Amino acid sequence: MEAIVIDAGSKLLKAGFSVPHDPPSLVIPTQMKRVPKDESSTNASLLKDATIDPVVRGFIQDWDAMEDLLRHVLYDRLGWTIGNEGNILFADPLATSKALREQVVQLLFEKFNTSGFYASDQAVLSLYAVGRISGCAIDIGHGKMDIASVIEGAVHHISSKRFELGGLDLTNLFAQELSKSNPLVNFSVCDVEKLKEIYACCAKDEAAYEKFQQACREEQHTLPDGQVIKIGKERYTVGEALFQPSILGLELHGIVEQLVHCVSTISFENQRRQLLENTILCGGSASIKGFENRFQKEANLSSSAIRPHLVKPPEYMPDNLEKYSAWTGGAILAKVVFPQSQHVTKADYHESGPSIVHRKCF
Ligand SMILES: Nc1ncnc2c1ncn2[C@@H]1O[C@H](COP(=O)(O)OP(=O)(O)OP(=O)(O)O)[C@@H](O)[C@H]1O
Ligand SMILES: [Mg+2]
Repeated sequence: MEAIVIDAGSKLLKAGFSVPHDPPSLVIPTQMKRVPKDESSTNASLLKDATIDPVVRGFIQDWDAMEDLLRHVLYDRLGWTIGNEGNILFADPLATSKALREQVVQLLFEKFNTSGFYASDQAVLSLYAVGRISGCAIDIGHGKMDIASVIEGAVHHISSKRFELGGLDLTNLFAQELSKSNPLVNFSVCDVEKLKEIYACCAKDEAAYEKFQQACREEQHTLPDGQVIKIGKERYTVGEALFQPSILGLELHGIVEQLVHCVSTISFENQRRQLLENTILCGGSASIKGFENRFQKEANLSSSAIRPHLVKPPEYMPDNLEKYSAWTGGAILAKVVFPQSQHVTKADYHESGPSIVHRKCF
């Protein structure tokens, strides 16, 4: 049986057997609904609407919910059977603590009878997906943005940085802006998120953005409940926030400057060049219309001696690779680590405990 690869994001869990040239067979919301055990209980109606996010800003926070979610994914959706469990490869976000890594391995061996385990960094895996072992991965997901330098298949932590800025913040910003121009409409987060994915875009440069703020063609959109709203300059505000985080009230430099700054901590010029000239954009929020062009344009204007350059995914890779590149890289790596027995086995775990994960997965 092929290993199962899991990238559990703040919004979407990507999972599937390791077939690197296919998209993950399962992409489902990570968010769960609390269902009351006993319908007659007095709090049943209250509980019915309660949602739980097992993963918050990239990190697992609710372990019971995560266990339920994984049980559903592994047994109900991907077809594991009790007593016949296989191997799992987990994609870790940047800055995952040692303790968190241990908790994941513990969960999988103690609650799931997993036969083998491996964990690797999302940034490393995303670079594997485009055939690189060194480069920079900028992953803009739902709960966080990771800018990671990867040298020879390992994250270089000093020149990498995690930001608590992601699609979630862009959705909130869009909701705020849409409410200003449609004051009589009550927006649901779910509707705004969908609108963001359809309409949000990046202006080609800052000057174009300023122009859209003065005058911008408005479009009408009918919400599922029949209300008609207008969408104009707000769509550009969302994309611009990645280049001017002050729009979100954050005291941060724009994304290109952050990248250049991260890499500037590396002493060797040839290494800095190798990293910046092999930059990839990934994560769902990187698929905002016009984002890649704007990024490359800002990179070309950068005052840095070495300018960032984007690497395109190989043609044989499926469309929308950026949305699940960490998963795809995981599928590639799983084809190596499990057959070559580099993973943590059940016997390793029972002999050494959860800390074995630091010795075997790097
Ligand atoms: N076309 C689009 N335009 C703008 N945003 C988009 C688009 N497509 C997806 N998104 C956003 O991408 C985010 C989901 O991306 P992704 O699956 O990479 O996040 P995640 O892995 O669940 O989260 P994280 O890695 O931050 O924990 C959501 O906020 C979603 O609204
Ligand atoms: Mg993610």
